[in-house]
Amino acid sequence: MIAPIKYRSIGKMFFITFLSSLALFGNAQKALQIPAKIDFEAKDVFPWITVGKSTKLSKTVYKNGSQALEIASGSAAQCNLILVPNSTYQITAWVKTESGSDEIQLNMLGLAENNISVASALTGWTLVKKEFHSGECQNKGIIELANPDNSSKNSVWVDDIQIDRIGDFVSVKPAGIKPLPIRKQVLDQGILAQPDEKLAWLLDAKFGMFIHWGLYSAHGQGEWVMYRSAISPDNYRVYAYPTIGDKYFSADKYDPKAWAKLAKAAGMKYMNLTTMHHDGYAMFESKYMNAFTSKQTHNRDFVKEYVDACRAEGLKVGLYKTLINWRFPGYFDVTGTDCKPNPFGYTTDIAHKENARLMKEELYCQVKELMTKYGKIDQIFWDGGWLGQQGGDADGAYFWESGKYLDTKNQWPVNPYFQDLDDITGKPLGLMGIVRKYQPDIIVNPRCGWYGDIKAEEGNAPITGAVRTEDIYEKCMSIGTAWGYASNYEDPNKIKSLDFLKRMLSDCVIRNMVYLLNVGPDKHGKIPQPAQDRLLEMGRWLEQVGEAVYGTRGGPWNPKDGQYGFAYKGNTIYVYLLSDFKGQALTLPSLNKGQKAVKAYVVSDKTPVKMNQNKGREITLSGINRTDKAVTIIAVELNKNVME
Ligand code: GLC
Repeated sequence: MIAPIKYRSIGKMFFITFLSSLALFGNAQKALQIPAKIDFEAKDVFPWITVGKSTKLSKTVYKNGSQALEIASGSAAQCNLILVPNSTYQITAWVKTESGSDEIQLNMLGLAENNISVASALTGWTLVKKEFHSGECQNKGIIELANPDNSSKNSVWVDDIQIDRIGDFVSVKPAGIKPLPIRKQVLDQGILAQPDEKLAWLLDAKFGMFIHWGLYSAHGQGEWVMYRSAISPDNYRVYAYPTIGDKYFSADKYDPKAWAKLAKAAGMKYMNLTTMHHDGYAMFESKYMNAFTSKQTHNRDFVKEYVDACRAEGLKVGLYKTLINWRFPGYFDVTGTDCKPNPFGYTTDIAHKENARLMKEELYCQVKELMTKYGKIDQIFWDGGWLGQQGGDADGAYFWESGKYLDTKNQWPVNPYFQDLDDITGKPLGLMGIVRKYQPDIIVNPRCGWYGDIKAEEGNAPITGAVRTEDIYEKCMSIGTAWGYASNYEDPNKIKSLDFLKRMLSDCVIRNMVYLLNVGPDKHGKIPQPAQDRLLEMGRWLEQVGEAVYGTRGGPWNPKDGQYGFAYKGNTIYVYLLSDFKGQALTLPSLNKGQKAVKAYVVSDKTPVKMNQNKGREITLSGINRTDKAVTIIAVELNKNVME
C-alpha cells in the first residue's frame, strides 16, 4: 500500500450518488478500453464529461508533460470504462490539491459492491494506487475524479491515470462462519505494532470525538488559514493577544468538561484534541526555548485541562500532534539547498538546514512532554509526517527518525539534552521509541512515518469494501465543512445530517472500523450549537441501538456496499440494513453446523422480526418494515456463540 492515500472530503454522500446516477443514465460518451493511459496531453485523449461547475486542462499545474486535468470545487470529471467481468484491475493516478484542507477523490462507480473510493488531501503531487474488481456480468464502470467540496474555492488536479487488468477475480459466496484471520503484529523500524488485546478498548468504543481547536479557530476559515492566507509567523502570533480585536483567540469559554459531557451524551467513548497543529501553536506548556505556547499567551495549559476533563467523564484520552511546523522556514528546505514552493516567500538558504534541525528538536522535546506530564494517554493521532508539503506519511521518516532509535549519522541530530535513552540498550530513542517508553499501551496511527497500530482513513469519501482484517482503521471526518472552526459551523444546513452520521458509523461497525468525528470549537472554546444539537441526536439514536454497536466486531460476513452488513457480539448477529436495501426479506449466508437462530428483533424498538432457517442453515428474515430508512438494525440471536 502506498502511504500517501488519505481519505477525506468535505462532500456529501448524496453528491456522489447524484453523480453516479447521472453518469450511469445520462451520458452517451464513448468508453475507454483497458489497459488505458490518460496523460491529458491531448484534448481527446480522455472522453471525460464534467459534472458540476467546471473541469479544464491546466497548462500551469501538471505532473508530467505539459498539461493536467484541473477540477474546480464542487465538480467532477467522469469517464466510462469497458471492463472484463470477474477481473481484478489496478488504477494509479497522480493527484494534487491546492491546500491540505481540500480533497481529491478517485471513485470507481457503477460496480455496486465493487465500487471503490480513495482520496488524497496532499498539496504535493501524490501517487494514489488502488485495486478494484469487476464482478459477474459487470462489463462497464465509471471512473470519476471529484473535488466534492462546494464551499471551497480551490481546484484539485489529476495527471497520468493508468488502468490495467492484473488478474482474475472470483467472488465466492460465503458459507459458514469463520473466525477473522489473526492480525499480524507488524515490526517496523524497531517498533512492534500493538497486539489485539491492546486495541480491544478502541474496537469496543467505536465512536470518538476529534477536536480541532487552536489559534486558527479565531479566523473562522479552518485550521490551514496561516498557510492559505500566507500569514507569516510574526503576523500570526498576534492572534493570541486581545489587542488584535475580533480575531483574538480568547478561549474565555473553554470548558473541556462541557466538551466531554457532550461527547458522552453523543455516545462517544474517547476524545482526541489537537495539542498542536501545523501552525506550531502548542496548546500546552513546553520548555523548548523557541516554543510558542498557550502557557505563554494565556497562562493556561489547555491540554492539561482537557486530559483531566476526559478522565472525569470516563473517556479515553487521545492527543493529536503534528510533526511539521510552519513557524520554521526550514520545514520547506530541510537540506538548505532545495526550498520547496511555499506561500511565505522562503527561498533556498543554507541556514534552513539548522532551522529544520531545531524544528525536529522542538518536536522531540514536546513529544516527551506530552508523553510524561499528563498521565496515561490512550491514543496519538499523528499528522504531518511529510516535509515541505510534499509526499506522504512515511516520506519524512528519514528526517524525523520516527522509529525506535536515533541514527548517530543523521544529518539533523537531536542535541543530547533533548534525547531520551532506551533503558536497556542505552541508545538514544527515536520518536516512537520515546512514545512507547512512557506509554506502552498507547495506540497510534501511521502519520509519523512509522507503520502504525491502526490505520487512518480520512474524509467523507464513502467507506466501501470488505471487513478490514489486516489492519484496524479509524475513519475520521468533520461534522462541518472544515476541521477547524469555520463560520458556516453556525449554519445547521452545513452540518452533516443525522442520517449521514448514522450511516457512516454503521459503515465503520460492519467493517470492524472505528469512527472519529470532528468538531471545531470557536475562538471562545464553544462547540457551535448546530454541531452540539446533531451530536445529541446521534446520542439519542445510540441509546436505542447501542447494543449493536459497542463491543461488537465487524462480520461474520462481508458487507454489500450501500445495502447491508453485519456485526456480532456473543451469540448475536446484528444485521445492518442500509438505505439502498429496498427488500422486505433478506437471506443471510449459512451458519455453522449446530448453530440455530432462536430469535430476531429490530434493535431500536425490540419488535420481533419473522425468521426462518432452512436445511442449509441459512436464515431468512422477512416482513421487514423499514421505519428507519437510513439504518435499520436487526438482531438475530443464536443458540450459541457466533464464533463457535
Ligand atoms: C490533514 C490536514 C489537517 C487535519 C488532518 C485531520 O492532514 O492537513 O489539517 O488536521 O488532516 O485528519
